[in-house]
Amino acid sequence: MKTNSPAVRYAVSDRNLALELVRVTEVAALKASHWVGRGLKNDADNAAVEGMRRAFDTVAISGKVVIGEGEMDEAPMLYIGEKVGAGGPKMDIAVDPLEGTNLVAKNLPNALTVVALAEDGNFLHAPDIYMDKIAVGPGLPDGVVDLDNNIVTNLQNLAKALKKDISEINLCTLDRPRHAALIAHAREAGARVSLLSDGDVAGIIATCLPEGGIDIYIGSGGAPEGVLAAAALRCFQGQMQGRLLFEDKHQIDRAKKMNPGDPQRKLALTDMASGRVLFSATGVTDGNILKGVKWYGNYVWTHSIVTRSISGTVRFVQARHNILTKQINIQ
Ligand code: FBP
Repeated sequence: MKTNSPAVRYAVSDRNLALELVRVTEVAALKASHWVGRGLKNDADNAAVEGMRRAFDTVAISGKVVIGEGEMDEAPMLYIGEKVGAGGPKMDIAVDPLEGTNLVAKNLPNALTVVALAEDGNFLHAPDIYMDKIAVGPGLPDGVVDLDNNIVTNLQNLAKALKKDISEINLCTLDRPRHAALIAHAREAGARVSLLSDGDVAGIIATCLPEGGIDIYIGSGGAPEGVLAAAALRCFQGQMQGRLLFEDKHQIDRAKKMNPGDPQRKLALTDMASGRVLFSATGVTDGNILKGVKWYGNYVWTHSIVTRSISGTVRFVQARHNILTKQINIQ
């Protein structure tokens, strides 16, 4: 391949973009970290949103937010449809500037700042409703688990594929009354169940990383978070299905306007995030995948994960930021 060929230029810009994305999630995490344990989830979220929004100003893309903080009249920044970036390739952006606002407010594990990019038109435009989700890690037969199977069948099929006994399977879900039957059936079948107080993006990513210690994620949570998790799983080569959960006809009509196709269908991973996808997340509080933000003297440390669907390479980026140089506004 010639060194100045379009393919080479494309690969270089894609790689550089991945590192730019880390800066975006780092700044949001640094900002949110001031609010850890203060019981003020909205302030934590606002700080992350503002930091992330500003960090996008220097990223070389012509970006459009498709998964964001809400509609234009609901959110001052990072609202759906907002244009961000310093100019460059047209990209769709999915953000959760603070995934786990309560986790930060209460200083509980696994709060993350999250961004994903895809080329124009490749993310599901998810309304702010619930989504049923099921996810497993890479290297398993296609369709080993399925939203349409009952929990016992899914556990049996997964255990067989992993060459484990069901008693060795660790299922993760959000600790919610709506999951009571799922949890009871999984435990009756012999599986362990790990419960999250919040933050299903971290729970889903954990299926793809050995340090995550999770074999399967099942349960309902936010649909926008579902798209972000799908973007991550595209890069990690995991498997995931989703299905939007509607409460009324108004929600169905709205979803029909947002995306082509039957809004109530089962969504494959590529229905939620297709094409070339980039994903970055930074820890705010300590978690099983990423450490949180650490302040020591004149330095502050961040821990991030960044990955691209094209290469599947997963980079853990540990950064030491010098407070005195104030290259980034972290105060
Ligand atoms: P926030 O960061 O917006 O508070 O969302 C946290 C979260 O736990 C998500 O990870 C999850 O998808 C959703 O909320 C679950 O919603 P609910 O708390 O209504 O069950």
